[in-house]
Amino acid sequence: MKLAVVGGGSTYTPELIDGFARLRDTLPVEELVLIDPASDRLELVGGLARRIFAKQGHPGRITTTGDLDAGVDGADAVLLQLRVGGQAARNEDETWPLECGCVGQETTGAGGLAKALRTVPVVLDIAERVRRANPDAWIIDFTNPVGIVTRALLQAGHKAVGLCNVAIGFQRKFAGLLGVEATDVHLDHVGLNHLTWETHVRLGGPEGENVLPKLLAEHGDAIAGDLRLPTGVLDRLGVVPSYYLRYFYAHDEVVRELGTKPSRAAEVAQMERELLAMYGDPALDEKPALLGERGGAYYSEAAVDLAASLLGGGGSAYQVVNTYNRGTLPFLPDDAVIEVQAAVGHTGAVPLPVAPVDPLFAGLMANVTAYEDLALEAALRGGRERVFRALLAHPLVGQYALADGLTDRLIAHNREHLAWA
Ligand code: G6P
Ligand code: MN
Repeated sequence: MKLAVVGGGSTYTPELIDGFARLRDTLPVEELVLIDPASDRLELVGGLARRIFAKQGHPGRITTTGDLDAGVDGADAVLLQLRVGGQAARNEDETWPLECGCVGQETTGAGGLAKALRTVPVVLDIAERVRRANPDAWIIDFTNPVGIVTRALLQAGHKAVGLCNVAIGFQRKFAGLLGVEATDVHLDHVGLNHLTWETHVRLGGPEGENVLPKLLAEHGDAIAGDLRLPTGVLDRLGVVPSYYLRYFYAHDEVVRELGTKPSRAAEVAQMERELLAMYGDPALDEKPALLGERGGAYYSEAAVDLAASLLGGGGSAYQVVNTYNRGTLPFLPDDAVIEVQAAVGHTGAVPLPVAPVDPLFAGLMANVTAYEDLALEAALRGGRERVFRALLAHPLVGQYALADGLTDRLIAHNREHLAWA
């Protein structure tokens, strides 16, 4: 089995390699190609990746290349984890919206739209080249904004599934609080990527007992503390929102906070400098603890599980993925991309049925789906007015003067990445 990772020079890659090494019985990788245009990083990351495999006795071969077409040739699955414009572009996404009093975030709000506009054309070009190299290859997309990027891939007819670590993070967290194995925790995880709610926490599988009320009663403070929301808010919702919902439920509070500290991109850039210095040390042969301070915890495990199931092996029967709605959430269009539990196998992902959704959550999902639709239009076809329409539709924008101000800034800060601007 051959896997390729586009954006393989990411400082995150050792997390993935560690997962491939630990879980090699689930996913027997024979060849892993790390593809990245940044040759310096690729060398450092590739070197550590080989040492991790060697230390853990993994027989697979790890190669590195800057040549995308050569790298994906013959791959059974291709993981996309790239970031157009790097942390520098992310830093902009996280800063200029604040000038308008709006949240500055890499996937939510105006910053997320900027990221979508930069990313969709690049990902579609890569996917086309993957298809040319091997029409049967699966594309696993980690590249944000995952919902919009996955929809772009599916609309273009690619064999793609979108993935995020929010659900697996909650699964591990809840298992720890409940004192059970992670595999015994089945979440009813409902919504769009980075806009999800855990509506039931079941033991043993999709039909299992719902222990969410007990979890909230016994550990509500700990869960709310992690999300930085008051426990009372969780009690009133009766479900556990992902931490991205704080950008909605506490928008103004977040904007005030963000105005007083360095951006997350600046923090991450500093961490990346430290990580790359460590990766260059030939004595290092495991993922360093510092990597645990990034947001991507457990993403390797989600990737291994998904790749194993898509490639016909032994992944979990049910996994939380991003795929077409097709009637699962009846209040959304069939071609919306949703993030829910799905049965995953070698033919792809089929969402499990979802219990009726409270309008309290369904309304926001529908609103953001409309935004994502318009965002994809803007990413595919360009033009100032399309950017404006997406922003005006966004529930965190909504006013024309605000949408105009954000549109001007988005274009000014991203001109070099937007072919039409
Ligand atoms: C979580 C999200 C990812 C996001 C990451 C950011 O893992 O699910 O989609 O990319 O956080 O983490 P960072 O360390 O870059 O802030
Ligand atoms: Mn994510």
